Formats: sequence, C-alpha cells, structure tokens
Amino acid sequence: MSGALQSFGPDLWLAEGPVVPFMSFPYPTRMAVIRLSGGSLFIWSPTALTPQLKSAVDALGPVAHIVSPNKIHHLYMGEWQDAYPSARLYASPGLPERRKDLRFDAVLDDTPPAAWAADIEQVEFDGSFYLTEIVFFHRKSRTAIFADLIQTFPQDWFKGWRGVLARMGGIVMPNPGTPGDWRLTFNKKKIARAALARILAWQPEQVVVAHGELTRSDGTTLIRKSFRWLMRG
Ligand SMILES: [Fe+2]
Repeated sequence: MSGALQSFGPDLWLAEGPVVPFMSFPYPTRMAVIRLSGGSLFIWSPTALTPQLKSAVDALGPVAHIVSPNKIHHLYMGEWQDAYPSARLYASPGLPERRKDLRFDAVLDDTPPAAWAADIEQVEFDGSFYLTEIVFFHRKSRTAIFADLIQTFPQDWFKGWRGVLARMGGIVMPNPGTPGDWRLTFNKKKIARAALARILAWQPEQVVVAHGELTRSDGTTLIRKSFRWLMRG
C-alpha cells in the first residue's frame, strides 16, 4: 500500500493532510477511511486529495460516502465530490448554510444512515450554541473518531505564545480536551453530558482525533479526561 494511508485497525486507515492555519494556529489535519462490510468506503473529514492519496484510497474499494464531522471541517469536500461524483456527500449540522456551493445528499444527526449503521455508530454532540460535532464509532476496530471536540497536541507542537495559549486552552498533552473557547459555548450541558454518556457506553479502545496524538488503547480513559470540564459544576 502507498505511504499515503496508514492502517489503524481492521478496515480502518488514516491519512495525514497538510497543516492549515486556524485563527493563526498551525493545525495538522487527518482523515479516516473505513471499509464497510459491503466493501465500499466511508471517508471521514477528507483532507487534500493528492494523486498518491487517491490511488491509495482507490486500491481499498469504491468511495461511497464522504462525511463532514462538523461545520468547520469542510475544506476539501468539493474536490472529493468532483473526483467521486457518484459518492454521497453528508453535511454536519450547519454546513449546508455555510457551503451553498456544495450539493449535499443528507445532513447528519444522531442516527447512523442505513448505509453504515451495521459498521459505524454515531452521536450528535450537541449543547453548544457555536458548534455541533458528529462523533463516530467504528465497531470492528473499537475506535471512536473525534474531529475537534478532543485535541491532543504534543507538548512541543505550538511554539512561544501560541504554546502558552494552547496549554491554557486545554488541548496539549498530557491534558487533552475541547478547546477552552468552545467549552464556554456549551450552554446546554445536560444535552452534552447525555451525548458523552452514549460515547462512553461504546467503550472505545482506540481514539482518532483530527488534530494531535492518536490513542491505541484504553480510549475511554482519554475521553473521560478530555471531558472533565463538562462533568464539573
Ligand atoms: Fe479541526
């Protein structure tokens, strides 16, 4: 297999994308590919579609579903839709209003579509007036997949004042979590706690995040640690 994709469990692969600026902070990007039991591919939070990545993906099976986990993860969806015109495009809540140029087949919510319900579970992590994320769980690899709700940057990723702010914001190991400014927007914590309870009930072993270090074992411990802010008060 090409170096563009790394295996992260049975029928699960990850690809590292370019580093993109987010409010002047350099954010590495990562996407996931899941092969569904029928053989087709579920593409989570696609990154830039290079020729190497495209040939690695095509070698795994036909691309059927292209998924945005939250409304700020959408940068490369257009180029994937152009490359795979027969795939279905799934918006996160709020994204259709933001990307009127894209043609979405559905908006995701708390219930996995029949097309992947046998392989992947999902939770709509609501309760913030700013941003709602869809969190996924790949049963076969026991992997929970988070975009921005959990960030696990290595100690030395951000330099200087950015490092200070990132550590204060609670997104740098060994203190992973939801960025501090986003935490403040959760005005309906009961709803968010119910979503978290459903995620913990999956008992994930692995945790994939879009930004930061991956977790290979005891995923529930990392998830609990990342949401301490939510359980307080
Ligand atoms: Fe992100």
